[in-house]
Amino acid sequence: MPAFQTSPGMRDLLPEQSARWRRLQGVFADVVGAAGYGQIMTPLLEDIGVFARIGDATDVVTKEMYDFRDRGDRHVALRPEMTASVCRAYAQHRPTPPWKVWYSGSNFRYEKPQRGRFRQFDQVGVEVLGVDDAHLDVEVIALAHEFYRRLGLRRVTLVVNSLGEPEDRARYVEALRTHFAGAQLGEQSRQTLERNPLRVLDSKRDVDVEAISTAPTIGEFLSDAAAEHFETVRSGLDRLGIEATVEAKLVRGLDYYRRTIFEFQGGTLDSAQNALGGGGRYDGLVEALGGPPTPGIGFALGVDRTLLACDDEGVFGPDERPLDAFVVDVVGGGEAVEVTAALRAAGLSADRAYDGRSMKAQMKLANRSGASHAVIVGPDELASGTVVVKPMSRDSGEQRVVARSELVGHLAASLRVDLAGAASPSIGAPAVAGPDDGARTRGTATSGTATPGTSTPDARAGDTAGPGPSAPDDTKDDER
Ligand code: HAM
Repeated sequence: MPAFQTSPGMRDLLPEQSARWRRLQGVFADVVGAAGYGQIMTPLLEDIGVFARIGDATDVVTKEMYDFRDRGDRHVALRPEMTASVCRAYAQHRPTPPWKVWYSGSNFRYEKPQRGRFRQFDQVGVEVLGVDDAHLDVEVIALAHEFYRRLGLRRVTLVVNSLGEPEDRARYVEALRTHFAGAQLGEQSRQTLERNPLRVLDSKRDVDVEAISTAPTIGEFLSDAAAEHFETVRSGLDRLGIEATVEAKLVRGLDYYRRTIFEFQGGTLDSAQNALGGGGRYDGLVEALGGPPTPGIGFALGVDRTLLACDDEGVFGPDERPLDAFVVDVVGGGEAVEVTAALRAAGLSADRAYDGRSMKAQMKLANRSGASHAVIVGPDELASGTVVVKPMSRDSGEQRVVARSELVGHLAASLRVDLAGAASPSIGAPAVAGPDDGARTRGTATSGTATPGTSTPDARAGDTAGPGPSAPDDTKDDER
């Protein structure tokens, strides 16, 4: 047993898993990018006050936050979600509304780990600020729906509800308080009732079932305006052929919601973890963070749970793009340096063996790599300026001896790859290529697993890089 392991609820994502991760993020980036959303990257760490606005009656804020004092004695927290950070960014930078952004990144909640529930988990999501139009609610829900459709998930269902205006919600909360006070509830729900009567509706415990089934529903408390807003959302979804079930007791776990709320549920995880993603309107949140009154709506989809659902539904097959070539060099290893560099510079993917292994051992590695071709350099080939190109599967053609100057063209033709625009230095020429020299018409030159035509946002904590919002002067830190 090694001295150190990952902390509970936190995992390493090894290459096979992170490849699916990138594919999922690529599909999401395509769907929301095509709808005019731009990517936002906010810090992993914020002043605790940003997240306190999520609501002091939510477990996320009161029990699950990773918060601490930094070396400048500032009370900070790792973000438990990204909506509050996006609203903080809006209040800070005051972009022109409507502001449509998407994000992808890790969040932290100190929850009890189990299947589909982690302490570090990832979300992809969108937020739109500055639009108070029920048709936008339809667009936002439809984007998440389209993402699941593109991924190929078939067993995801959509539930919707309205929490009404704040006054409607307040009257409903009072009615729930009265109802539950006189009903039979378990001890845990009694405690929840003290803090947040809405959350009692989330209980899945047997002792609470009867009290919940007889509880009043929000529909009776909706103002005319809120009811009309909800009706527009429902009919809009209907128009798009998106099936949505109204779940009158859907409340969601965060306090900031008002009017439309929704959840996408998977058919395969435990009921406590079956929410693959969710969202809703949070019209007062920017204001609570010191910005102007601003309507807002968005959703976040759990990447971890969505991938579990993909596994359960058998969505992801093998990598779409294995390596193009594996270079086998039995004349010392130096030839493979040149050949792999030239192939990569031309926009093909290539790997090689190291440590002067035998031909047999190198061919074994070539097989294991999944490459579609082995490119072999032995003493005869070295002497004649050629290579042997060996297709690794039986049905992909004959083994050929090819002049090294023609290797790129031969492989491209065999792989039916259009390398138009790619630099294709002849093999044997110094293989110093800039990062863009490998540009090609399919995928990226750097990844053997990228989905064709998709952008590949950084995996996991990749949202810490790049030009973020400008930070105000931090004299406290400067002094240290
Ligand atoms: P949420 O319902 O707290 O909403 O989280 C959204 C999704 O993140 C969940 O449905 C789930 O898939 C995933 N998730 C949450 N906690 C965990 C966990 N401990 N382990 C694994 N996955 C988890 C929000 O975060 C809101 N910010 C959504 C939103 C955006 N509302 C408006 N805009």
